[in-house]
Amino acid sequence: MAHIVILPGDGIGPEIMAQAVAVLDEVNTRFALGITHEQHVLGGAAIDAYGLPYPEPTQKAVRTADAVLLGAVGGPRWDHIERSIRPERGLLAIRADLGLFANLRPAILYPQLAGASTLKPEVVSGLDILIVRELTGGIYFGQPRGVRTLENGERQGYNTDVYSESEIRRIARVAFEMARLRQGRLLSVDKANVLEVTELWKEVVSEVGRDYPEVSLTHMYVDNAAMQLVRAPRQFDVIVTGNLFGDILSDEAAMLTGSIGMLPSASLDERGKGLYEPCHGSAPDIAGKDVANPLATILSVAMMLRYTLRQEQAARAIEQAVGQVLDRGLRTADIAEAGQATVGTRAMGQAVVAALREQAAAL
Ligand code: IPM
Ligand code: MG
Repeated sequence: MAHIVILPGDGIGPEIMAQAVAVLDEVNTRFALGITHEQHVLGGAAIDAYGLPYPEPTQKAVRTADAVLLGAVGGPRWDHIERSIRPERGLLAIRADLGLFANLRPAILYPQLAGASTLKPEVVSGLDILIVRELTGGIYFGQPRGVRTLENGERQGYNTDVYSESEIRRIARVAFEMARLRQGRLLSVDKANVLEVTELWKEVVSEVGRDYPEVSLTHMYVDNAAMQLVRAPRQFDVIVTGNLFGDILSDEAAMLTGSIGMLPSASLDERGKGLYEPCHGSAPDIAGKDVANPLATILSVAMMLRYTLRQEQAARAIEQAVGQVLDRGLRTADIAEAGQATVGTRAMGQAVVAALREQAAAL
């Protein structure tokens, strides 16, 4: 038995989430998982309903849930409101509140989509990178922060990049554990030639590495890592880095795979409870048009089943169903090659559900 809180969010969130829930319900029945779920609001939808991006009913529900499934938050409609209560703050607040310090962002190239990447197929084929991003520290949360007015009347904006040893150590452990289960190669990304905070990062990650002799650890400055990701991305297995660098590099890595619309993510606390969401944003420009790709959210359901609910078989079934619909040539607009026919959000979700039913029937 597990209880899930669903947060559809804003923009394309509700329509992609409807498809993800259909997939969840399908595996729930087929594998008799006994999962129950309820919906709450976060971000802009919460601002509309409660005047706050992370309101109390949502807080209460997610704190007791076994896992949280999120669509996406934000949109131009809420961009003018006071900074401290914008939709994105809801996302940051839930990450901090639940202690979701470990953000896993896989960038996997589906062989069926090799032609959809802007990079040459020979550069990206077989790509399988896992970015482990620290998610509750660094410059995103460091104090002091703000915009102040100096004596001369000029305004000055400031933020603080800060990491304590314990924060670095716990994210490093997650990354080494992941690397151990994969190809055994870990890259730690820093800017230790300039920033003291990342000099400490590098030092502590190296210390943790002594407990993992089977993992080969290397270090790279973030500018070089950004370059290497487009030059020769297959050199990477697991990449661990801080909050801000991880935000940037994970979008870059996502795009290597052809579309950010394919990539799920997990944000885990110390005990493996997690929030699962697609890597992409709320895409307000295409919201409500039935063109968004629901696969990243559907694959986030698979990650949730694997990492928090420990239902590997159900997770695999979903991933396999996604592979089946891609094999059949179904493409939403974001993953279509020039001239290829496209399907909408609903049709793509329904095709995944149908593929799951075919799997069950074939058993
Ligand atoms: C992400 C997003 C968020 C972040 C925004 C929406 C606050 O870009 O999850 O990568 O910067 O962490
Ligand atoms: Mg981002």
